[in-house]
Amino acid sequence: MKNLTTAAGAPVVDNQNTQTAGPRGPVLLQDVWHLEKLAHFAREVIPERRMHAKGSGAFGTFTVTHDISQYTRAALFSEVGKKTDIFMRFSTVAGERGAADAERDIRGFAVKFYTEQGNWDVVGNNTPVFFFRDPLKFPDLNHVVKRDPKTNLRSAENNWDFWTLLPEALHQVTIVMSDRGIPKGYRHMHGFGSHTYSFISPANERFWVKFHFVSQQGIENLSDAEATALVGVDRESSQRDLYDAIENKDFPRWKLAVQIMPEADASKVPYHPFDLTKVWPHGDYPLIDVGVLELNRNAENYFADVEQAAFSPANVVPGVSFSPDKMLQSRLFSYGDAARYRLGVNHHQIPVNAPKCPFHSYHRDGAMRIGASGGEHTPYEPNSRGEWQESPQFKEPPLSLEGAADHWNHRVDTDYYSQPGNLFRLLTAEKKQLLFENTARAIYGVSKPVQERHIYNCTQADPAYGAGVAAAIAALEGK
Ligand code: HEM
Repeated sequence: MKNLTTAAGAPVVDNQNTQTAGPRGPVLLQDVWHLEKLAHFAREVIPERRMHAKGSGAFGTFTVTHDISQYTRAALFSEVGKKTDIFMRFSTVAGERGAADAERDIRGFAVKFYTEQGNWDVVGNNTPVFFFRDPLKFPDLNHVVKRDPKTNLRSAENNWDFWTLLPEALHQVTIVMSDRGIPKGYRHMHGFGSHTYSFISPANERFWVKFHFVSQQGIENLSDAEATALVGVDRESSQRDLYDAIENKDFPRWKLAVQIMPEADASKVPYHPFDLTKVWPHGDYPLIDVGVLELNRNAENYFADVEQAAFSPANVVPGVSFSPDKMLQSRLFSYGDAARYRLGVNHHQIPVNAPKCPFHSYHRDGAMRIGASGGEHTPYEPNSRGEWQESPQFKEPPLSLEGAADHWNHRVDTDYYSQPGNLFRLLTAEKKQLLFENTARAIYGVSKPVQERHIYNCTQADPAYGAGVAAAIAALEGK
């Protein structure tokens, strides 16, 4: 028989009856199992992620299919056929941990590659752009998509007031309101690193790079009506779809492709290449195939692996690096900070987050430290024992930066509308109509000045976009 024990390993004598003074008497404090059970249960919930709280994850493998080693010296790309273990987590953004999956929202698309040079995280979305380009606005975005502090209701008014005051948001808003705004499940959407990152080649040259993950299941979406009906019967539709597919060995796959820009091109292209509200046209920088990601193993314990997963854009490996994108720069701080709050200073020791290669940081102690903490190893550097030295061979080429320190006004670049306009014009007539109607339903009931501001922004992108949204709102309001 398998014995029930306390957390300290001692056998539990009775798990049915608390210890009382007499058969009808009060509970005794010395029933320590009773105390331990209640105390542990009260602490079983940890803070949810401030964004992307509702999510699903799984383990898998990345396999290199094409040689890109002239662009990057990262070991995971060193040869065709090379395999690297991965963990991926998908999420909705605005909802809490118990929110329904089939909501109109962007989806998180986070990949952790357990490489032999450390963990590389691509913490992306299912959209190639974002709502704005200055990170000071991120907590405001959170506050408009989360519940209103007074009503405790989600507020379309707050949401659209904010979005429409940031004309650079139109590109992302157009994608979210389009037919792609509610993916049928996580398997049926593409992923994007979204930011510009950099590759460092074996010759120590820098290339700017964007990451694309192309769903091999194909894009499938839900209409507003389908999503409403689905949520009524299944709030966990994306979790169920992903979990069941993997259990049934119908392993989901994404092709990894990159857009590569030589370093010097950054100052020549007609758009700001580090502006997260812009894409790089594929005509200028075509997709280059790299490999395939496959998810083939569900977590044994959702909490241990999926809830405790901590991704950070700061996790890069030699050969992959950052760019001057100020949104990315801000994220380099925010994710480690969030993980230290949500999971603790030693979150990197949790198995799903731990590197699969040896790691020697000289960090020691801290809450929940397990394993070596100094101990048999020298806890300082330099030391006379030849322990853990830096690796100057991975130094990147110097990056030229210029300009005086100031709060530079990013609004001197007023090109808010050309790319959303181009996207709109690419849509078929049927998809344009869906965009109009989805927008009308989402902005329904919002105050007139805010609606008009959105119609104005859409009109700047394309007069037909503004007119279509205006007509759809009028139709919904029965005018
Ligand atoms: C989650 C901050 C922009 C994708 C989070 C979390 C924070 C955060 C604090 C919760 C992390 C945790 O508790 O583990 C920010 C800030 C941003 C920003 C400050 C901009 C300045 C973005 C962008 C993307 C993105 C542009 C995609 C391109 C994600 C994803 C997650 C996440 C996928 C969930 C990761 C997971 O599955 O654990 N973000 N974010 N975020 N963010 Fe951001």
